[in-house]
Amino acid sequence: MKKITIAIDGFSSTGKSTIAKQLARELEYIYVDTGAMYRAVTLYAMRKNYINTDNFFVNQLVEDLDKIELTFVYNEKEGYAEMYLNGENVEKEIRTMEVSDFVSKVAAVPEVRYQLVKQQQKMGKGKGVVMDGRDIGTVVFPKAELKLFMTASPEKRAIRRYKELLDKGEKVKYEEVLRNIQNRDYIDSHREDSPLKKAEGAIPIDNSDMGLKEQFERILSLAKRIINA
Ligand code: DC
Repeated sequence: MKKITIAIDGFSSTGKSTIAKQLARELEYIYVDTGAMYRAVTLYAMRKNYINTDNFFVNQLVEDLDKIELTFVYNEKEGYAEMYLNGENVEKEIRTMEVSDFVSKVAAVPEVRYQLVKQQQKMGKGKGVVMDGRDIGTVVFPKAELKLFMTASPEKRAIRRYKELLDKGEKVKYEEVLRNIQNRDYIDSHREDSPLKKAEGAIPIDNSDMGLKEQFERILSLAKRIINA
């Protein structure tokens, strides 16, 4: 059967990764969570104290880029690949609010983007891949056969994210989560290098009032139509 590239972009907490994982499982494709890669680089910078609430020593991070090894290792039990930073499983640590607070700044650094985009293009070169992020349809795979652009209101996204974080045992306030989401939306869509925007030919999906099942079925049928064409 023909293999295609599926690029899913959109604002944070629009459920991109949930849909992408389901699609990859159903189609037996590779799933690449590019946000996890930016988060892992951010965690590295935090641990080295290259970034904190007062400072961001961009040059030091850029100098270290060739020392940062990112790999995805498939976890049979969970059914998806987890993020490893220099051989350490950081899947849980990269999802904290602290990392979320700094990640947009790190993701705005052109040298960081250049390195990660190169790795992502390598991972998806054989097709049969579902990749989610902010610049997949615009920069990483502009020729992807299926491009999606996911949106939902900031309040709906904040509620979803807030519940997720509470379930994981993080002590957060709803207002804090909403602020983080609005902040990231702003930085991600206003940065100079590869700002978040709908790619040419991308299909917009507003899931503010759409359930997971409905979204999944709609997107799967779009993918199958292209695969079977
Ligand atoms: O999808 P996420 O929330 O885990 O992504 C974390 C951050 O990384 C997000 O604020 C923007 C950035 N990002 C990016 O700039 N480009 C990508 N392809 C993926 C994520």
